[in-house]
Amino acid sequence: MDQHAPEIACTLVIFGGAGDLTKRLLMPAVYNLKRGGLLPEKFALVGVARTEMTTEQFRVELGGGLDRFGVNVAPADRDWLVDRMYYQQGAFDDPATFKKLKTLLDKTDGANHTGGNFLFYLATPAQSFGPIVEQLGKAGLSEEKNGSWRRVIVEKPFGEDLESAKALNRQLLSVLGEDQIYRIDHYLGKETVQNIMIFRFANGLFEPVWNRDHIDHVQITVAETVGVGTRGKFYDATGALRDMVPNHVGQLLTMIAMEPPTRMDADSVRTEKAKALQGIQHYNPDDVLQNVVRAQYTAGHAGGQDIVRFRSTPNVPPDTVTETYVAMKLKIDNWRWAGVPFYIRTGKALAKRHTEIAIQFKQAPFSLFRDTPVDRLSPNSLVLHIQPDEGMTLRFSAKKPGPTVQMGPVEMKFNYEDYFQAAPATGYETLIYDCMKGDASLFQRADSIEAGWEVVQPILNAWAKAGKVRLPTYEAGSSGPSEAAAMMERDGRRWRPIDGGNETSR
Ligand code: BG6
Repeated sequence: MDQHAPEIACTLVIFGGAGDLTKRLLMPAVYNLKRGGLLPEKFALVGVARTEMTTEQFRVELGGGLDRFGVNVAPADRDWLVDRMYYQQGAFDDPATFKKLKTLLDKTDGANHTGGNFLFYLATPAQSFGPIVEQLGKAGLSEEKNGSWRRVIVEKPFGEDLESAKALNRQLLSVLGEDQIYRIDHYLGKETVQNIMIFRFANGLFEPVWNRDHIDHVQITVAETVGVGTRGKFYDATGALRDMVPNHVGQLLTMIAMEPPTRMDADSVRTEKAKALQGIQHYNPDDVLQNVVRAQYTAGHAGGQDIVRFRSTPNVPPDTVTETYVAMKLKIDNWRWAGVPFYIRTGKALAKRHTEIAIQFKQAPFSLFRDTPVDRLSPNSLVLHIQPDEGMTLRFSAKKPGPTVQMGPVEMKFNYEDYFQAAPATGYETLIYDCMKGDASLFQRADSIEAGWEVVQPILNAWAKAGKVRLPTYEAGSSGPSEAAAMMERDGRRWRPIDGGNETSR
């Protein structure tokens, strides 16, 4: 990490300060920033939540408890952080909470010289986003005055459909300027996701072939082994499509599909991303039937755990039609991608935790080898491994040694950890740090959010219209439903194995 961090005095105010996200990810991320020399001396952290707790208890529970969340704590850095932590109890829709918060912030701002700069992080259930911002406005906490800044990080889910996302945007924008709103998608904090931009735009080698002339199709897989577990209530109301596609998977697709921005500033980058999303074809109900597969897992074993079938999960109705898996083919209507399908799939309780983007190039014209025993060449592919093994694989054909011409596929591999010593990271470090600096490149603008929902909305509509139909199923621990494989086969293609292993996919 950069040892010469700019001095960005500020108070980080976390709504949902006693919650799971704060404990598991935000506190470790803040700690890692301190460890990496990226927090200013003039810093304070305020937790706000409904839970009854004193500042002292907050310090013990969240600061003292850091090592419970896999952080290898250096006591001096932890003590530095704990000394700057404060807590405010209260409900998020109660004006009294914000009055008390304002009094507390006046005090902590003065004591820690944080210059009136506040970063409000909304790590709360989505229904609290609007009310919190409204109350911040009413309490005079959102107004930027005397050179200070006020920024708000909004977690996902950003809306539950197109209409609610638009309504939330309107609500936020009635209190804040677009430049004060940082809509977070933690996939953009992942190193390998950020690296896609460097890979494409800092190398001369790949961009010339990054188009319909050379690419046959793209496959994006975000597979998880975890089941729904204790998140039944949230997940049953959400489903795989809403939970993963307009946000995480959409971001991966955008990174691959976007045009090179003219500059690397936030607006140039975000304009190109929005254009890529706006280019995705919107489906009619027949298209949805043809190009989208949804399914639920049945009982099985995944990620070393026995998993009960989704319909038997606590807080999930036994006749639910919420999907735990979705696969689809998307088409992008622009000159670069016309005719190149993007296949995406994501699901819970699958065979392996594995996220990758595979670029499948077109077959070589192989007339040169027509008279040899070689009747088929495997196509070139470039696979970007996002997690858990971070790296890239380029696959091509080579001659097998011997007097006859025989070929086999070989791979050139790059593993991140072989080259770079990775600093401990949750993915949230970069995002919090960028927000402190005022760099919104890795956050989503209102138009991108809405463009993502516009793609998903016709699918939600078609499913709502279909009502309580029987969904395809897949066994927990498998690679997904056979219907997803059939969708690919109709196009003469195959999914890559879910564990990221080798396979020719045509
Ligand atoms: C969250 C979803 O946004 O992302 C979860 O709500 C999902 O359902 C998680 O498990 C995946 O994130 P990661 O970083 O583990 O791939």
